Amino acid sequence: MKIDYVKNLARNKNLVVETGTYMGDGVQKFIDCGFKRVISVEINGNLHKQCSERFRGNDSVEIIHGDSVQYFRDNAKTFPEDIFIFLDGHYSGGATGFHDEPVPLLNELKVILSEYTHDKLIIMIDDVGCWTGLLPDGDPAWDWWKDVSEESILKIVSESDFKANYFYDDEKVTFVLDLTREVEG
Ligand SMILES: C[S@@+](CC[C@H](N)C(=O)[O-])C[C@H]1O[C@@H](n2cnc3c(N)ncnc32)[C@H](O)[C@@H]1O
Repeated sequence: MKIDYVKNLARNKNLVVETGTYMGDGVQKFIDCGFKRVISVEINGNLHKQCSERFRGNDSVEIIHGDSVQYFRDNAKTFPEDIFIFLDGHYSGGATGFHDEPVPLLNELKVILSEYTHDKLIIMIDDVGCWTGLLPDGDPAWDWWKDVSEESILKIVSESDFKANYFYDDEKVTFVLDLTREVEG
């Protein structure tokens, strides 16, 4: 995630919600981007505890312990218009964890798009290489990511009230959905 790229995309956005905190480096980058509030959701108890310590005393940061899909079920309806969403919550082996599925991305999207109430929204999805063939041969993550593709993401958008402009960054690390609610009639 490149700070200038995010800053440009998230002009006028004050709040970022990140799924998957891990060690908190993404949170620090979002602080450096100038967001007034950073919320990050982490399923793993130890990582949540470590990151809560790391950002203790920073009132603009909230590290939430829980499943990202449930977090969106509980909160997406009340999200403000000036939100930027960064989806990076997935099992990556090692110290990381997961809830119902290693990669909850498609379910996160479904819930966000059905619950969010405003007409415009930007969602950035990380680790595009995991579904565009950059994983090493035999890596177990092939299986974790098997349902994720540009097509499966855009299918979820097509089943929602939103239409999307979508694009990759130059290095094809992130995929951005720039969403606008379709107005009937
Ligand atoms: C790739 S790491 C996140 C890296 C971090 N966003 C950064 O930029 O430094 C993925 C994290 O997602 C967490 N995770 C996996 N499934 C999750 C879920 N359902 N809800 C929340 N966090 C989840 C993992 O435990 C792991 O720490």
